[in-house]
Amino acid sequence: MKKITIIATLILTTAVVIIGCKDKRDPGKIYMPDMAYSRGYETYAQRDSSIFTADPNDAGHKIFYNNLAPAGTMKRGELFPYPLAFDSNNYKISGQIQNPIVGDLPGKELEEAGRLYNINCGICHGEKGAANGPLSAKIGAIANFTQPKYIDMADGTMFYSITYGLNNMGSYASQLSREQRWKVIKYIRTLQPKTIATASAAADSTTAK
Ligand code: HEC
Repeated sequence: MKKITIIATLILTTAVVIIGCKDKRDPGKIYMPDMAYSRGYETYAQRDSSIFTADPNDAGHKIFYNNLAPAGTMKRGELFPYPLAFDSNNYKISGQIQNPIVGDLPGKELEEAGRLYNINCGICHGEKGAANGPLSAKIGAIANFTQPKYIDMADGTMFYSITYGLNNMGSYASQLSREQRWKVIKYIRTLQPKTIATASAAADSTTAK
């Protein structure tokens, strides 16, 4: 009887080994999935939805992965996270948030901010901020930064709109870092007449013509 058990065990083990090793590329039953599947972000990689999930409620059954940095973490050298979430009430109070960059930008940094402005914003807002970029023929109601409304607008409100987008304008949060967005606002300021009075006078003279 003992012999039969030993032989049966041997046959069974051999069968399991042979079946288990049939396809070298298939890890078979995965005991530790983290070892078989990389959690690292592979550019453009398609993740197997039977193994990965972006739904936190599903974590535990599957490997949770949503491509986002963990909450509360920030990139080295980046400014502190912006405290206002996307919400119409927050838009109203956004002006209270000060530009963390105090004073004028030094020449090289202003030049860089201008370069970023021309790449990302000039296509609509125009090189001089007068809402006459090449896309202005297609996209209506572009903000003209030389107008009193925008001279008066707080940096914080501009930052909110650049971060979350506004009507015909999309969000620039993924194209520009927080620091770059605040610097671009500094650049926009250099395109504006210094005071609302000069802007109004200029507007009057253009309408008079
Ligand atoms: C596709 C065209 C387009 C591009 C590109 C674009 N904008 Fe705008 N932007 C608009 C339009 C349209 C509005 C007016 C939105 C409204 O008031 O309805 C606007 C409004 C604004 C305002 C005023 C926001 C407010 O709260 O009234 C700011 C500031 C601004 N844009 C900055 C930028 C900056 C900085 C960039 C580049 C990073 C940029 N925009 C790129 C179309 C664009």
